[in-house]
Amino acid sequence: MRQLLVTGSSGLIGSEVCIHFAQLGWHIHGLDNNQRAVFFGPQGDTRWNQGRLAAQLGSAFQHHELDIRDRQALLDLLQQVKPSAIVHTAAQPSHDRAAAIPFDDFDTNAVGTLNLLEAARQACPDSPFAHMSTNKVYGDRPNTIALAELSTRWDYADPAFADGIDEHFPIDQSKHSLFGASKVAGDVMVQEYGRYFGMPTCCLRGGCLTGPNHSGVELHGFLSYLVKCNLEGRQYKVFGYLGKQVRDNIHSHDVARFIEEFIRAPRVAEVYNIGGGRANSCSILEAFELVAKFSGKPQIHQYVDDNRSGDHICYISNLAKMRAHYPAWDITVSLEETVRQIVENWQNR
Ligand SMILES: NC(=O)c1ccc[n+]([C@@H]2O[C@H](COP(=O)([O-])OP(=O)(O)OC[C@H]3O[C@@H](n4cnc5c(N)ncnc54)[C@H](O)[C@@H]3O)[C@@H](O)[C@H]2O)c1
Repeated sequence: MRQLLVTGSSGLIGSEVCIHFAQLGWHIHGLDNNQRAVFFGPQGDTRWNQGRLAAQLGSAFQHHELDIRDRQALLDLLQQVKPSAIVHTAAQPSHDRAAAIPFDDFDTNAVGTLNLLEAARQACPDSPFAHMSTNKVYGDRPNTIALAELSTRWDYADPAFADGIDEHFPIDQSKHSLFGASKVAGDVMVQEYGRYFGMPTCCLRGGCLTGPNHSGVELHGFLSYLVKCNLEGRQYKVFGYLGKQVRDNIHSHDVARFIEEFIRAPRVAEVYNIGGGRANSCSILEAFELVAKFSGKPQIHQYVDDNRSGDHICYISNLAKMRAHYPAWDITVSLEETVRQIVENWQNR
């Protein structure tokens, strides 16, 4: 039976990948130490999701309580399992949180990724390696694209970006946040293990990855957190840009589907911008309306006239390269359906 190693298996993307590949008949090794609860406190706790995987997948799922910063333990595990493929989603995922925990952030995102790459090179160099990177590797340079202010959102005024930002966009000489910088280090290292050692690696530079199984907190998981605030009647803080800042949102199922395609026909040292694209983009103001449509409650919010440092004003991923390399893949879950699922899931949780 094919063995899949998923780091960050109790998180949003990791858990989706575990379930998706188990349904395809793989045996799943999930690796997670609930570090999200350390990064974000009890609201970020992912044990419930680990329990859900164990209950839903039974003997097809094996949990490994392990920290990716533990180089030797990681190497031992990979040498023992010799996975047929690796999906790396464990991370300190917050742009804003990183400044308060710079060593935890870099040791996890950069060094943890190197630990995993080197263990993979020693134990299973031919196994496809999919790495979750982020659009924050582009720093705040997307903010230099000419913009137009519309009634509820910012949009690109430059027609060259009508379909979004593609993988040729420059990544340096801009403000990244410490998180963006640690993710650049991981991203470039994943590419290097591809180019230098010929390993089948890819970096998936995520826009807003979302879905019903996110443990959304103020500093990470904007749609999940926004819905939670809405349902609990709590105030949501909008940080600058008039609430018109645009995110492109992709359901975790469509991320897992792309990873399936990559593992089926891997390439070496590839980079993809993976987001919801223009069709699944919304501003914060538009998200308020969408959530209210499904929850029946207006969003209570407060506007703080100060944007998050280095935050994108308008970010839409160009999905052309993903579609060209893997024609069987496309977005299958609309933004409306995603929001409906998040509302329903928080109501049940
Ligand atoms: N969610 C988004 O909007 C988004 C956007 C762009 C990129 N990404 C990237 O996608 C990946 C997954 O994001 P997510 O939203 O699923 O995050 P998540 O926080 O829901 O999941 C990450 C999981 O990794 C675990 N983890 C963290 N540090 C660990 C460590 N040192 N050892 C073992 N486990 C550890 C956490 O406990 C958590 O369960 C991350 O690399 C993130 O940077 C996410």
